[in-house]
Amino acid sequence: MSRLIVALDVPQPERAEALIDALYELDPIFKIGLEALFGYGERILAACAARDVRTFLDAKLHDIPRTVAAAMRALVRPNAHIVTVHAQGGHEMMRAAVEAAQARAAELGTTAPLVFAVTLLTSIAPEDLNELGLRGGTGENVTRLAALARDAGCAGVVCSAHEARDLKHFFGEDFLALTPGIRPRGEAHGDQKRVTTPADAVAAGADYLVVGRPITEAPDPLAAARAILDEMRGVAV
Ligand code: C5P
Repeated sequence: MSRLIVALDVPQPERAEALIDALYELDPIFKIGLEALFGYGERILAACAARDVRTFLDAKLHDIPRTVAAAMRALVRPNAHIVTVHAQGGHEMMRAAVEAAQARAAELGTTAPLVFAVTLLTSIAPEDLNELGLRGGTGENVTRLAALARDAGCAGVVCSAHEARDLKHFFGEDFLALTPGIRPRGEAHGDQKRVTTPADAVAAGADYLVVGRPITEAPDPLAAARAILDEMRGVAV
């Protein structure tokens, strides 16, 4: 099973569906973010179910535990492989999300999605932390929130490939790292500041790689995705 996640960050459902049709033979996971979920959620979820592709529902849930549990129940479905929550929602909220995922999956007779936690958004600069009342630097906060996520039963965290190595060191191989900010060598970085090549991300311990524009904006998305998978496999053990 491929560990490549393709981010379907496109405004129109037709484009998202065309990308799924172009890429599904490679068995990637398709990331459905807030734009798609709010813009054309039911349509894209139905399209993914019809094509039997795995999905990553990047819902970034963050609310009181009861509300998050209820939202998680609504998101669980047979092809939902990964769902995200915000670690800053706290231990009880994350625990409620994990338990709701497991309970709902059992009711549906399907596998529970892996719950991944977002630690600090990468848009948060070190100087913003103080304003938010968070003590310490970025690394310290990411590590603290990752520990909280692990203790609450999350499968892993969303982090940069640069942080994946530390994460594995602190929390062990079984705590999973899902990393965006991937760019094949020689490609435009877009608005991503800290980027890693697919091979380097896998070597750093990333378990899942999220790639958006290098695939979705390529003239031939299938060829671009194939090249990234080849690069990932070249270093995978
Ligand atoms: O197009 P690109 O490869 O930059 O897309 C990366 C995807 O990963 C986007 O959907 C973006 O929202 C997401 N992401 C990110 N950085 C984070 C968390 C999520 O780029 N820290």
